[in-house]
Amino acid sequence: MIDLHSHLLPAVDDGARTVEQSVRVLRYMAEHGVTDVCLTPHLLASETEAGVPPRQDAAFAVLSAAAPELPRLHRAAEIMLDRPLPAVVARDGRFRIAGSRYVLVEFPRLIAAQAVRLALSHVAELGLVPLLAHPERYSSCSPDAVSRWRTTGARMQLDANTLLSPYPRGERARALLAAGLGDIVAADNHGDDRTIAAVRDALTEQGAGDEARLLAEENPRAILEDRATVLVDPVELRLSLLKRLRRFMGGGEE
Ligand SMILES: [Fe+2]
Repeated sequence: MIDLHSHLLPAVDDGARTVEQSVRVLRYMAEHGVTDVCLTPHLLASETEAGVPPRQDAAFAVLSAAAPELPRLHRAAEIMLDRPLPAVVARDGRFRIAGSRYVLVEFPRLIAAQAVRLALSHVAELGLVPLLAHPERYSSCSPDAVSRWRTTGARMQLDANTLLSPYPRGERARALLAAGLGDIVAADNHGDDRTIAAVRDALTEQGAGDEARLLAEENPRAILEDRATVLVDPVELRLSLLKRLRRFMGGGEE
């Protein structure tokens, strides 16, 4: 499996704090079948004009020296569009997923659907492919809204753990999956135990093994290799057993 969204570059954002913590998580991911991880530290669009922060390069050098052979490490950023994406991101491949045309972007939670569409079209006008991180996080997210967002050429990264959540955000994520509007899953690991294995397994157990492979492996690989992703067939992720288990264990809203 290939996980394209993580905060495992040590001590540069709210993710892993130390090299040792990052290495522990990488080993854990490898044990769960993850072969490739993209490191996507938070960055504001307004910060990109200054180039890739030197401390990220330094953190990458230290992590690379200590990291296990697998998962292979790739670099990018998760860019918060606090302003329209600066053109420097189109010139400098280091901001994009493994230097491809794909750029991982996010928005403030309360953004309006129309503002998302405009910002995504602006990214596409720069010749890039916006990959929207966790679209289900936005209250304006619905299958209708995401269908319009996708007309810009944008692709959708559903959150692997939210897909298994019984709460409203999980319902929004599953509604996208049920409408065939998700392109990849990623764990958004912040130095913890989140992987994409659980949702891959849940889909596979429900007979959606082909869709699971597309979401967790084939489409992420297409992005790494700068190829077009393939549409994923609509799939209903049933949650009744998980929901009961979560209630039993007293889990709260994510
Ligand atoms: Fe993230």
